[in-house]
Amino acid sequence: MKKLSLSFNNAIILTFVLLRACRTGQQKPGVRQSTGVYQYDNEKKTAVARKSGPYYSDRQAVTGKNGMVASAHPEASQVGVAILKAGGNAVDAAVAVQFALAVVYPGAGNIGGGGFMVFRDKTGQAFTLDYREKAPEKADKDMYLDSAQNVIPRLSITGHLASGVPGSVAGMAEAHRRFGKLTWAQVLQPAIDLAEKGVALTEREALGLNRTKKSFLQVNPEKRYFMKADTTDWKTGELLIQKDLGQTLRRIQQQGRAGFYEGETARLLVAEMQRGGGIITENDLKNYQAVWRDPLVGTFRNYKIITMPPTSSGGVALLQLLRLVEPYPLRRWGWNSDSTVQVMIEAERRVYADRAKFLGDPDFVKVPVNQLIDKDYLKTRWSDFTFAKATDSRAIKGGTLPGYESLETTHFSVVDQEGNAVAITTTLNGGYGSRVVVGGAGFLMNNEMDDFSVKPGVPNMFGLIGNQANAIAPGKRMLSSMTPTIVEQAGKLYMVVGTPGGSTIITSVYQTILNVLEHGMTMQQSVNALKFHHQWLPDNTLFENGAFSDETIQKLQSRGYKLEQLTNSLGRMDCILLRPDGTLEGASDPRADNTSVGF
Ligand code: GLY
Repeated sequence: MKKLSLSFNNAIILTFVLLRACRTGQQKPGVRQSTGVYQYDNEKKTAVARKSGPYYSDRQAVTGKNGMVASAHPEASQVGVAILKAGGNAVDAAVAVQFALAVVYPGAGNIGGGGFMVFRDKTGQAFTLDYREKAPEKADKDMYLDSAQNVIPRLSITGHLASGVPGSVAGMAEAHRRFGKLTWAQVLQPAIDLAEKGVALTEREALGLNRTKKSFLQVNPEKRYFMKADTTDWKTGELLIQKDLGQTLRRIQQQGRAGFYEGETARLLVAEMQRGGGIITENDLKNYQAVWRDPLVGTFRNYKIITMPPTSSGGVALLQLLRLVEPYPLRRWGWNSDSTVQVMIEAERRVYADRAKFLGDPDFVKVPVNQLIDKDYLKTRWSDFTFAKATDSRAIKGGTLPGYESLETTHFSVVDQEGNAVAITTTLNGGYGSRVVVGGAGFLMNNEMDDFSVKPGVPNMFGLIGNQANAIAPGKRMLSSMTPTIVEQAGKLYMVVGTPGGSTIITSVYQTILNVLEHGMTMQQSVNALKFHHQWLPDNTLFENGAFSDETIQKLQSRGYKLEQLTNSLGRMDCILLRPDGTLEGASDPRADNTSVGF
């Protein structure tokens, strides 16, 4: 039971520990392990018997007529709704939620990280903003290798060298400059109040901070950040007050982006880097810019999918996955039947191989986006597939295109009264990022450098493999899997979707969309539905307990699929669906503290 209340970062790390254990023969791949029929119910705070059916829980949706915010934390969702009620639009609310999450959800909410925003305005025009972190100017492609060219363990994950130049404050300032209605001071104020007056810790957050105490002390030996004065463990409901962070947020409130990238905050950040051997400089900070990119738009059946282009791989991969399964009658085959699962896994295998070969920062490498999502190209990717037998991942390479040679993240969705919609996924990468707290400024730095391919063919913390396209270079953005997505039906807003989960983000978004469009689930049922994941390498399919029937398991195993039942869960979705009668359905994931608030 306890395992289900692990932070998502730990869940992912555990997943890959399990995968590694499998590969070294300590566990038998393909063997379904029984973990009983009980699960932890976050709302009832107790273990309950699992309901039959494909759902993690029977949580019900939140509905509203005027606006909806779905995020990883109830306080952050409340902040978003308060901004909407004060006359703010979806972008104002999203900016306020991003800053509020940096206070109430230090595991992933952030100002020391980065993210992506997909915005569809009430007229249907779409915009995407890339505020992903960048490699510092002094970064080098071999910076995590020793003299024998071996990867130095954890150097890209923990400590000062693991951080990219943060993008979140620049992203929020730019989104607000272009689309905000309320003042910058108004949208910053709720986060400042939460930092200065304190936020009551949820059970999950208290557990996360207690578990991370040792590594915080290792990285920040002279400080007691995120610790109680007497260093005893946090208990649920105790107040976390963050005075330094409050001051940093006040500087941002007063000076805009300069309150972070210049002056006192920049001075503190650079001093912190120098103290711990990091390489981010004042120049890196001053030069950081968020970038508007052309939204990636494609279709799946009669639906329009608006999603994030590179620097995230998420949108390209999502469109590839949807288009690969489009020719198949998933609806007739049924949810998680053996044939449905089989084509979904085989699509995932091929798409993650393409990701490793082709995807990287478009400002540095040519990413063949249109070719990768081209239906004729995708048809060729099925040429070696047969229903009789699982394809061997070792036989799959990134495709041949003509003319072409993380784990804690958080997602939130906002829809306002006028129908403007925002999907934002934002991250420090691992839970609590690099564990570096900027002395005197009170915020955590990301460990996003691990999302680069630190050495071709060597897996990162999510087990993802990359190549030249995602090699480290000064000023380059590291490849992401974040997939904030908006779906349109008949020219109207239909769904706002996204989740954290490192490499599993893409497949969770894929299943959540298919559950609604193909299998007739409501938004909340789709979020509650149990999920699975395959990412080409390692060649295993992870699945949540109960995601596959015994019959599906037996049939897949007989065709050579290696199945690995998770002791944890997949996804922390925060989604909104616009019902035909105009009601907004807020669907937050029952797997954690995620909460929708509507009005
Ligand atoms: N850090 C997780 C991701 O960007 O995919």
